This record gives sequence, structure tokens and C-alpha cells, in this order.
Amino acid sequence: MAVREILKMGDPRLLRIALPVTQFDTDELHLLISDMLDTMQAAKGAGLAAPQIGVDLQLVIFGSNTRNLRYPDAPIVPKTVLINPVITAPGETEGDTSVQEVEDWEGCLSVPGLRAMVPRFARIRYVGFDQYGDPIDRTVEGFHARVVQHECDHLIGKLYPMRVRDFTRFGFADALFPESIELQDD
Ligand code: NI
Repeated sequence: MAVREILKMGDPRLLRIALPVTQFDTDELHLLISDMLDTMQAAKGAGLAAPQIGVDLQLVIFGSNTRNLRYPDAPIVPKTVLINPVITAPGETEGDTSVQEVEDWEGCLSVPGLRAMVPRFARIRYVGFDQYGDPIDRTVEGFHARVVQHECDHLIGKLYPMRVRDFTRFGFADALFPESIELQDD
């Protein structure tokens, strides 16, 4: 049980292309995941990627089995450990131009206090493995799809500000949403 320090944007370790996990169901892996869960919970995050605590591995966690306090209106995303993920947008590989993008607000534990409108695929398929090496294969949409795309971006050195197109909708949460009581950092 340990809450680890979350790296902030500007730290070069957030820009690395993470390495694949090669051994599953090891004590070391279980300990890392336990620390990540503690860290995500302490920060009330919707997800966390290993690079955010300085660990250069393709491992993300997200979701919870209860409502997220920071996103109380968001649907529940099942608590998931996702390793060596691959994301595709259905239709993308066939050059289907109807692949739909949607914009919504995002924040990031590595970019505290800020929010932006970020375009993401509306619907994705993601495959990968859990901590035991069992395969995961899900097709999801909405908030679930957004969280997965955000977290997996951390594995290729991308933070959400790098995805922003409209910088008039990028700013400090307390300035963007002055009426909100939900102003804690993310
Ligand atoms: Ni993030």
C-alpha cells in the first residue's frame, strides 16, 4: 500500500513510449498495480497510467465500482487493469470516413487545475491483457471510450493538451467553471 508521487507535465518521463509488459502475475506487477490503485484513489482520478508515476510500462488502470466524485454524472466504468493495450476505432482501418469523433471536457492528474475540450473517437475497440495475462477485448463508447483513449495516450507520451484543437476552450477549471463546487485538482 503506497500512494506514489504523480509526475507533472514538463517531466520528460511523461513523453516516453512505454515498454510492453513481458511477465504477468508476478509479485512485482501486483505491487505496482496496488500502488497505482492507491494513488488513483487518493487523487480521486478516473484513471492512471504507469508513466504518470515514472514507471515506463504499458499499463493503465481506470474505472471504479462506484461513482467517481469528480465525474458524478458519468456512467460507471468497470474497474479495469489494462496491459499492452491496442485501440482501434471500428471502421478506421477500412478508411471509413464516418468514424465519429466527439468533444468533451478532460482533465489529467499530471496537468492539475486545467481542463480542455478534447476530441476523441466516440466508439472504440480495445484489446490487451489483465494482470494475470488473461485477454481483454471490449467495444465501448462515451465516457468509457474517452477514459481509455486518454489513459492509453500516456503510453505513447501524449498528454491531452497535445490533442486540443480549440485553445479558447482550454483553461483553469476554476475560471472555466466558476459556478462549480467541484474545483479540486484532478
Ligand atoms: Ni491523464
